[in-house]
Amino acid sequence: MRSLYTRVTVCVRTQGTCGSRSRLCGVAPQRAFCMTAAGTVAHGKLEGRKGAESTGVRKRGVDGRVRSFEEIPHTGRSGWINLVKFWREDRFRQLHKHMERTFNTLGPIYREHVGTHSSVNIMLPLDIAELFRAEGLHPRRMTLQPWATHRETRQHSKGVFLKNGEEWRADRLLLNKEVMMSAAVKRFLPLLDEVATDFCRMLRAKVEKEGRGEEGKRSLTMDPSPDLFRFALEASCHVIYGERIGLFSSSPSLESQKFIWAVERMLATTPPLLYLPPRLMLLVGAPLWTQHASAWDHIFSHAEARIQKGYQRMCSSQARGSEAAAGGQYTGVLGQLMEKGQLSLDLIKANVTELMAGGVDTTAVPLQFALFELGRNPEVQERVRQQVRTSWAQAGGDPQTALQGAPLLKGTLKEILRLYPVGTTVQRYPVKDIVLQNYHVPAGTMVQACLYPLGRSAEVFNDPLRFEPGRWGREDGQRGEGAGGFRSLAFGFGARQCVGRRIAENEMQLLLMHILLSFHLSVSSSEDLETTCTLILQPQTPPRITFSKL
Ligand code: HEM
Repeated sequence: MRSLYTRVTVCVRTQGTCGSRSRLCGVAPQRAFCMTAAGTVAHGKLEGRKGAESTGVRKRGVDGRVRSFEEIPHTGRSGWINLVKFWREDRFRQLHKHMERTFNTLGPIYREHVGTHSSVNIMLPLDIAELFRAEGLHPRRMTLQPWATHRETRQHSKGVFLKNGEEWRADRLLLNKEVMMSAAVKRFLPLLDEVATDFCRMLRAKVEKEGRGEEGKRSLTMDPSPDLFRFALEASCHVIYGERIGLFSSSPSLESQKFIWAVERMLATTPPLLYLPPRLMLLVGAPLWTQHASAWDHIFSHAEARIQKGYQRMCSSQARGSEAAAGGQYTGVLGQLMEKGQLSLDLIKANVTELMAGGVDTTAVPLQFALFELGRNPEVQERVRQQVRTSWAQAGGDPQTALQGAPLLKGTLKEILRLYPVGTTVQRYPVKDIVLQNYHVPAGTMVQACLYPLGRSAEVFNDPLRFEPGRWGREDGQRGEGAGGFRSLAFGFGARQCVGRRIAENEMQLLLMHILLSFHLSVSSSEDLETTCTLILQPQTPPRITFSKL
């Protein structure tokens, strides 16, 4: 591990130039004279070392001193002017591209002040490692203030997403037992497999009915995203409540469809509200705030109804002394939490609602990207399918064994999340002063690891724009890990990483496995997908995929 933190670069820079220019221009052109071991910076662009699996550019002033926080290049001193620019240029929706451009211009670290928010942004694995080393026992992310204000004004308890400190840790340890630990994964994996199998059955029937070509060999070109959203909700609810909600039936409930829309609306209205004081928005009755709060209200009332139903089901089966209640059958995350009784009912509701809201778009969207990338890379698709077929045949119907024997499936999703990270940043407030790129960063500063520029950086990945699930395989992966790790961070890191990670990984891998066993995938154009950021990164227009029966 020690080598992770070794400084590798020396910087030769004209003293004082950057600092004084920055005051005039608002942007410090630090990169102009920097020579680094990892690459040369010319004309404000970081020219990556070709084929580098490198871990970080380091700078040290000629006098060897650590530079001050104020000397970190920045995008302008006034948060309000920046906010206006963000609105005017629609940067909220292109935040990922804005970050990539800014790193290209200012180098691997910069400060940004937008509205009420200030952050230091970094993108190289060495710096990210240093940040996480200083995250402390109770790691903190940027608070999504609009979400917190909603809970406070409606007097709802907060789940782990919005809590901090010892309170967060206590709840999180209890949740981990139900969703992260391997015993829990073993319990819920068959449930996810059942939903994935049903989804493919439904898709086969649809292709047979609506597709073209001779019977048994039909193809159908369509936008699979509405079905993928339904799949994601059905799968996560099956794990959370231990029962199916029937979204693949011929008349799926309108309430569930409304829940999916509410989550979308809640996500889309979050980014613009992040940079404004939510209490003020609430006070003036801003339409954006009203839309946001009513989307959350809908999410809460839907989750509440499901929780009530689950609770009643449990009570009645307990009264009947049924096998499920006696521990014979898996009763879902809700049932487990209730049976153990370590979390209050209020906190169970808060966390189950968060799991429900967090479990739809986060998996449905990467699945869209995955079908698209597999479709436009037929050779890769065939390689993954061959491995899946062999593994499935040897697993004797056990889905967990099948996944273990098909590492390319896992690699496929790592590639998707590298190129299209659901959350474009992971944030932390270091608990002690740290040094990043030889700049002093005081404890308590909000620092963001920017995943989109990281995933597409030639400094970090060979041929970064190529979709290559094999790059995460043992040989290549070990080389990468040895060179620093901290390159696959879509689920965050450490004790605060995504609590739904195991559900998400297994759910997505199982669905891809069944799809690859049943269909050949293709797309009509291999043009890149335009992407947009609505808190999560997604395609501007959902891709159309051709499913051809195998
Ligand atoms: C591909 C799918 C997903 C991705 C990429 C993802 C990503 C993330 C990230 C980056 C974080 C912050 C981690 C950190 O700060 O280190 C997070 C937290 C969280 N995620 Fe996910 N997520 C996914 C799916 C899910 C699912 C399916 C659920 C629920 C079933 C979920 C629920 C949560 C919750 C509740 C937290 C807060 C955890 C805490 O603060 O302790 N996520 N997720």
